[in-house]
Amino acid sequence: MTTEVRTIDASETDDWIHALHMPFLGHADEESYRRWRLHVEPERTWVAVEGDRFVGTSCVFSRDLTLPGLAGEPAPTVPFSAVSGVGVHTTHHRRGLLRQMMGQMLSDGIARGEAIAALIASEATIYGRFGFGWATSSADVALARRTNRLREPVPELDLELCDAREAAKKVPALFDRLRRARPGQVNRNDAYWEDAWEDPRAIRGGLSKHFYVLCDDGYIAYRAKNSWNSDEVNVLRVEDLFGASTEVEAALWQYLLGVDLVDTITAARPLDEPVRWRLEDPRGLSVTGVRDMLWIRVLDVPAALTARRYRHKDTLVLEVDPAPTWTDGDGRPGGDPAAGRWVLEAGPEGSSCRRARSGEAPELRLGVAELGAVLMGGQDLTSRAQAGRSVELVSGALERADTLFGSRPAPFSSTGF
Ligand SMILES: CC(C)(COP(=O)(O)OP(=O)(O)OC[C@H]1O[C@@H](n2cnc3c(N)ncnc32)[C@H](O)[C@@H]1OP(=O)(O)O)[C@@H](O)C(=O)NCCC(=O)NCCS
Repeated sequence: MTTEVRTIDASETDDWIHALHMPFLGHADEESYRRWRLHVEPERTWVAVEGDRFVGTSCVFSRDLTLPGLAGEPAPTVPFSAVSGVGVHTTHHRRGLLRQMMGQMLSDGIARGEAIAALIASEATIYGRFGFGWATSSADVALARRTNRLREPVPELDLELCDAREAAKKVPALFDRLRRARPGQVNRNDAYWEDAWEDPRAIRGGLSKHFYVLCDDGYIAYRAKNSWNSDEVNVLRVEDLFGASTEVEAALWQYLLGVDLVDTITAARPLDEPVRWRLEDPRGLSVTGVRDMLWIRVLDVPAALTARRYRHKDTLVLEVDPAPTWTDGDGRPGGDPAAGRWVLEAGPEGSSCRRARSGEAPELRLGVAELGAVLMGGQDLTSRAQAGRSVELVSGALERADTLFGSRPAPFSSTGF
């Protein structure tokens, strides 16, 4: 029987949600239908159909992403294809259905003028072949609260402890302002917040509903394990901690260190989280893991490279190799739009990017996945070259590329999709 890949009709949304859950070893329930219905954009939702059965799913959310900016200026944001809901039933996997769906999703993103696609991968083995590179990371940290405190006083903030009902009035605007200070942050739309205020049991991981701590220039969202009257370790799990300055963030950590009954504070934080250096016992903050978050696929090289900002001035000629697996929306192989020789002229005043003219020799050779990885400023090409994933063609070009693409603060993504 033939399998057709196409977008869904709005009336097929529930069947799509049903099919989506199977490859993730779960079943759709009332809660998951309610939550997914909030997010699905039918015209950007793909299905692989065999007869009347849905055997593969994928979708794109229309979101926007913060890119590296310059100190003291609002960072740029760009619309991007947020790829999600990817699953193929085991009965039909390894027959190229993901390849077909990916070709259609990426071609659709290009047609809409989106320069970048990004996703959060279930397995790190899947998406490199499609040109996605590991671009943002997150550190899982655990802080022993009872035996630690901050070395120096921090600003006294007027903090309000509240639940979702009160937080709903202020947090969306605060988040939208503060996420622009950190490359890698994805916007949160109304559907996201509706889900957050509902805070269903399924997404709480056995912890409490969110508590929110608000001030004018920052907030924390955290959950706790309500086991204070047992012998278990009492955990406070930070899910968001945003401040307009490192001083505000330090004051929010001060608040967390003061929450009675808690033994351990856990959080996923940016790799450059500075709180360790404020602690009396810096060893008391353990990094329990480092994870990949956003994988980025450049769809339009000039648009993606010129949308971000650069702290240093340089010109680089890059030879970008196509992704091993690229098919266009009609399933034709070849023609990866990111591949080819590009000239990037960049600096704090602005940048331009164009195809190289004949005679402009490349200085670096890299895959499109590597280009996506370094775009956000938190990954380097030198270690990739040492692993055979990029090649320096002109002496010194690697170091210049790492200086040009590197940016601060480190990219970090705290919004799932
Ligand atoms: C991942 C998944 C969607 C792949 O779908 P699929 O239709 O089997 O993929 P395809 O047949 O189109 O494979 C395309 C390529 O990816 C490779 N591939 C697919 N799944 C892979 C995996 N889990 N690990 C490594 N490689 C994988 C295939 O071998 C193939 O390689 P090739 O281009 O070199 O031939 C499917 O296995 C699945 O649903 N997994 C469980 C749910 C999941 O993890 N979804 C991803 C969420 S981010």
